[in-house]
Amino acid sequence: MKIVSVVGARPQFVKLAPIHKAALAAGVDHVIVHTGQHYDPMLSDVFFEDLGIAAPDVHLGVGSGSHGSQTGAMLSALDAVFDEHRPDWVLVYGDTNSTIAAALSAVKMHIPVAHLEAGLRSFNRRMPEEHNRVLTDHASDLLLAPTEVAVGHLATEGLAERTVLVGDVMTDVLFEVRNEVGSSAPALAQELGLEPQGYYLATIHRAENTDDPARLAAVVGSLSRLDKSVVLLAHPRVVAKAAAHGISLTQGSLIAHAPLPYPQLIAAALSSAGVVTDSGGLQKEAFLLRVPCTTVRSETEWVETVTLGWNVLADTAEEILAGVTRPVPLPTEEAPYGDGNAASRVIAELSARMPAVGK
Ligand code: UD1
Repeated sequence: MKIVSVVGARPQFVKLAPIHKAALAAGVDHVIVHTGQHYDPMLSDVFFEDLGIAAPDVHLGVGSGSHGSQTGAMLSALDAVFDEHRPDWVLVYGDTNSTIAAALSAVKMHIPVAHLEAGLRSFNRRMPEEHNRVLTDHASDLLLAPTEVAVGHLATEGLAERTVLVGDVMTDVLFEVRNEVGSSAPALAQELGLEPQGYYLATIHRAENTDDPARLAAVVGSLSRLDKSVVLLAHPRVVAKAAAHGISLTQGSLIAHAPLPYPQLIAAALSSAGVVTDSGGLQKEAFLLRVPCTTVRSETEWVETVTLGWNVLADTAEEILAGVTRPVPLPTEEAPYGDGNAASRVIAELSARMPAVGK
């Protein structure tokens, strides 16, 4: 079996790691295509190095641009790649512009497409990620859902027959890395002179929180007034927008810091007093590490984290302050994101369904 994985943005490299490992273990011919959506070394190269992923076989070097030009450049470059490799499956990940471009290119070339992390919904049609995931699900031949909730969303949209529940591959990689980093003091805390539990860890990068100057100023202002140091791992988008709007990302309790490699991020989250984020992945990682999370959005795709009490949604500055300083949630043994073996299930499903889809 030959699989072409298409990735381009940071969270996709994390999901690629366990898939690549499971593919190698099963003797699958696994071709990795990097679109180049994320090109900063700290958003890209360090993930391949730290998570033991082979260097991409193909790099499209697409870079930044408007949604249309970025997605279009990928789409036009991928036709030739798929034509050359003619895989049994194109595997697309999550909800970025790289995901929709690869799904669209493959489906038009009659190459079977599988969508990893299918069925997530925020029901917020203003989010680029929501367009990407809905359109990708409806274009794909096989929908690899991470949770029961995602399976339910796909059934509601008439996609039950193409759906299979595999669990969440981010659980696979998180558990492995958590065991590797153990209880060692995080490099970040040593560098900044922070005590365990003496700081909060923050990431803010979504268009909804960064593009409007008043919105970004309100979020930054609330983080700067928190009762402990807040380390903001600043994505290039927030750095660029803050500079353009004249907003300082280091003020009051807030300290801006470069993004971290994955193992260092996990170590830093594990010994923090809480996480404040608008990232999808980090909400779930915080839950799996049982670190309280406050999500700076008005909705989430990972509703289980909220229902189980480990995540709260906070839209206004007051809600952010209240969310971060709330009491520690009650312990839970629930495991809505699977058992850490999702990637081998993905490879088994792709292999089992190969003849059914055909070319
Ligand atoms: C993308 C995904 C988002 C994901 C996030 C993780 C889409 C629509 N969004 O958002 O779902 O959560 O990645 O990080 O695909 N930039 C750099 N260097 C880089 C990459 C980006 O400077 O290596 C800057 C550019 O100015 C660019 C901006 O960040 O215009 C936004 O990058 P883009 O890839 O469009 O989206 P993200 O905000 O990273």
